[in-house]
Amino acid sequence: MNRLEGKVALISGTGRGEGREVALRFAAEGALVVCGDLSHEEAVRTQRLIAREGGTALTPGPLDVTDEDSVRSWTEEAVDAFGGVDILYADADAGAVRCGATGSRPYDDLSSTLRAQDDLSSTMRAELDSVWLTVRVAWPHLVASRGCVLTAGPTCSLTGRRTAHSAAKAAVIALTRQLAEEGAPYGVRAHCVGPGVTVAEGSRSGLLAAGHPGRGSDRHLPLGRAGVAGDLADAAVFLASGESAYITGAHPVADGGRSAVLPGATIRKDMCK
Ligand SMILES: NC(=O)c1ccc[n+]([C@@H]2O[C@H](COP(=O)([O-])OP(=O)(O)OC[C@H]3O[C@@H](n4cnc5c(N)ncnc54)[C@H](O)[C@@H]3O)[C@@H](O)[C@H]2O)c1
Repeated sequence: MNRLEGKVALISGTGRGEGREVALRFAAEGALVVCGDLSHEEAVRTQRLIAREGGTALTPGPLDVTDEDSVRSWTEEAVDAFGGVDILYADADAGAVRCGATGSRPYDDLSSTLRAQDDLSSTMRAELDSVWLTVRVAWPHLVASRGCVLTAGPTCSLTGRRTAHSAAKAAVIALTRQLAEEGAPYGVRAHCVGPGVTVAEGSRSGLLAAGHPGRGSDRHLPLGRAGVAGDLADAAVFLASGESAYITGAHPVADGGRSAVLPGATIRKDMCK
């Protein structure tokens, strides 16, 4: 408790899933949480859930992380209300809404002539440019507070699997490392937190849904279960808090070991005799 006491935390994508869970956890740790989501009603619901638990939260108008004016007014309202920004968690995944399943289509099925409306370019714009924009607008405030940036880069950005989505999220990891470098002289730290297969509204209708080709992959995870939103929130609290003051540029993955351990039968002691 109180590991983020008095810190102003802007979190995009608080309408559901990881974003909502992280908002609740940050508030429980004493942060003043600024909610924001394309689904404004759901973001306001998260704000109410936080208030019900005794926390402090605010939801400026609807947030669209692909729209500069929207991101600017969200950030400015937060600064007006709470006096600054200490933590930015750029969690919203605009790709799911803007591009649907496009990000997961196979390479040779994907169009790209490097125009904005193409499959690859539109995914990059939704998933990479939106993070870039959200960070860019908050950056002067983070420099002023010697703050912390968190982005989201799942396991598939390390291992491949979902062509355009994997490429965009791998770019988010690279961007985050660059932020770690450029932020260091100002005391700004930057991390990318990586979910694996996580049970959430998005994955229930996607990867974990009946008929999805990837369904069942969670049974092969070394730790034997899909993640839950709290797994990632634990890592996020640590990385946003002073407990990790000497860590920057990290990319911890809460993926049950998927990206670290080869799938297959566990080697038993009797096999090694
Ligand atoms: N849940 C998983 O299994 C999983 C796996 C890999 C990666 N991730 C990543 O973790 C992050 C959170 O995942 P999740 O499962 O909670 O996602 P989700 O799809 O459940 O939630 C994303 C939230 O972002 C909001 N959003 C979408 N477009 C927006 C926009 N333009 N502006 C503002 N808000 C917008 C949505 O309304 C939604 O509330 C995402 O970056 C996602 O890519 C999740």
